[in-house]
Amino acid sequence: MAKFVINGGKKLTGRVKVSGAKNSALKLMAASILATGKTVLENVPQIEDVQTMAQVLRTLGARVELDQEKGAVEIETGGIRSFEAPYQLVRKMRASILVAGPLLSRFGKVKVAVPGGCNIGSRQIDLHLKGFEVMGTESFLEHGYVHARIKNGIGKLSGALIDLDFPSRGATENIMMAACLAKGKTVINNAAKEPEIVDLANFLISMGADIEGAGRDCINIKGTGTLKGASYRVMADSIEAGTFITAGAIWGRDVTVEGALAHNMEIFLTKLKEIGIDIEVSKDKVRVSRGEGPFRSVHVSTLPYPGFPTDLQPIMAVLLATIPGISIITENVFENRFMYVDELNRMGANIKIDGHHAIIRGVESFSGAPVTACDLRAGAALVLAGLKAEGLTEVVDIFHIQRGYECFDEKLSKIGANIMKVD
Ligand code: EPZ
Repeated sequence: MAKFVINGGKKLTGRVKVSGAKNSALKLMAASILATGKTVLENVPQIEDVQTMAQVLRTLGARVELDQEKGAVEIETGGIRSFEAPYQLVRKMRASILVAGPLLSRFGKVKVAVPGGCNIGSRQIDLHLKGFEVMGTESFLEHGYVHARIKNGIGKLSGALIDLDFPSRGATENIMMAACLAKGKTVINNAAKEPEIVDLANFLISMGADIEGAGRDCINIKGTGTLKGASYRVMADSIEAGTFITAGAIWGRDVTVEGALAHNMEIFLTKLKEIGIDIEVSKDKVRVSRGEGPFRSVHVSTLPYPGFPTDLQPIMAVLLATIPGISIITENVFENRFMYVDELNRMGANIKIDGHHAIIRGVESFSGAPVTACDLRAGAALVLAGLKAEGLTEVVDIFHIQRGYECFDEKLSKIGANIMKVD
C-alpha cells in the first residue's frame, strides 16, 4: 500500500494551482445521462473518484473517454441499457447514487446500492428517495439495493413541490436532475446552496434545462422534452484551495494559491483573518503567509453553505492546533467527523473531543510519527501536520487522499514541502 513520507520543518513558499472541483465534476458526469449526444467536460481533476464515476457510467452502457493529461472527459450515453449502480462501486464512492435522478428522469427506473456508512457518518439517502416519491416513483429496499421506478412502470416523473428537511447537497442535486425531464414544474425548498450546486445547474442549463434559483433556498425547474449534450468547464475546487491556503497559514512564507475563488470561501477566509494570518485576496488567487501574529484562538462551527464547510473542518483543526490558547470546533453536519483527532494527538497536538465539539489547546510544535488517513480530508490534514512536524511523518492509507486531491504530493513539493510517495 502506498504512503506519504514527509520530512517536516521546511517553510512553504511559491505558487500552486487549484484543479477542477471533485464535488462538481462527479455530478456533471452523472448529469450527462440526461442528454442525447456527446458531452465534453473540461478542467476535470485527475483523481480516483473521476475514474470510479467513469466506471459507473460504463457499467450502465455509456461510452466514457478520459483524457487525464488534458483533464477532459467525453461521454456518450446513447448506449445506456442497464439501470443499476452496483454495490462495489457505490461502496467505493457514495456519489455513485447521483445516477439515480438522471436515470429515473430519462428511463423511469433505477437499481442503486444503498451507500451505507463511511468514516464520517451514516450518509443516509432518505431525502433523495422522499423527493423521488413525491415526483411519482415507487421504491423498495431488497438485498441492500434500492429499486425505484415510475409508478406502474409507465410515463415520466411529475414535477412537484419538495420541502427538504435538511439542505442536503446530494438530495438537491439528485432531485434537480430528476426534475429536468419530468412533466411540469418542480420547486425545491430548503435547497443546498453550495457553489457546486450552481455549477451543476449552469451545466444543465447549457444542455437546455429550464432552471432558476440555484444557489438560493428555493430552486425552480421546468421539465423539458429532451436535453442535448454540451461542453462545459468545471469550476475550481474550493476545498482543495482551502487546503493549500491552510498549509500556507500553518507553515508558509508567501504561498500563492492560483485559481482560488475567494467569493466561494468567504467565511473560511474571514476565520483565517480573525486568527491573525496574513491573507491577500484578489479575483482568482489568494496569497497567504503565516506571519508574525499576534494570533487569536477562535470558535469554528460547520454548517451548510454559506456556513463554514465541514470538508475544511479537519484541515482547520491542524491550523488551530498551532495557535496559542483554546479554540473550539463544532461539527454540525456529520455525526462522526473527528476520527483524525487521535492520529493528530499522536503527533503532539492537544485536542479533546466532547460530543460534537473539539477543544483544541495550541501547541508549539508537532513531532513526526507514523499515522493513518481515515478519510479524504482527514488524510490531507495529517499531511499538513507532517509539513510542520519535527522529523519524519509517514501517512498510510493514502488511497483516501488520492480519491479527491490531484497530484497532492507533487503540488506540495512545488511549494517547498519535503514529501515523497512510496509505493
Ligand atoms: C457532499 O456529500 C460532499 N460529497 C461531501 O464531501 C460533503 O462533506 C457534504 O456534501 C457536506 O457538504 C460530494 O459532493 C460527493 P449531504 P453529501 O447530502 O451530498 C445527511 C468530501 O470530503 N443526509 O449534504 O452526501 C447526511 O447523513 C465529501 O469531498 C440525510 O440525513 O452531503 C449528512 O449528515 C465528504 N439524508 C448530512 O445530511 C439524506 O437523504 C449532509 O449530507 C441526505 C443527507
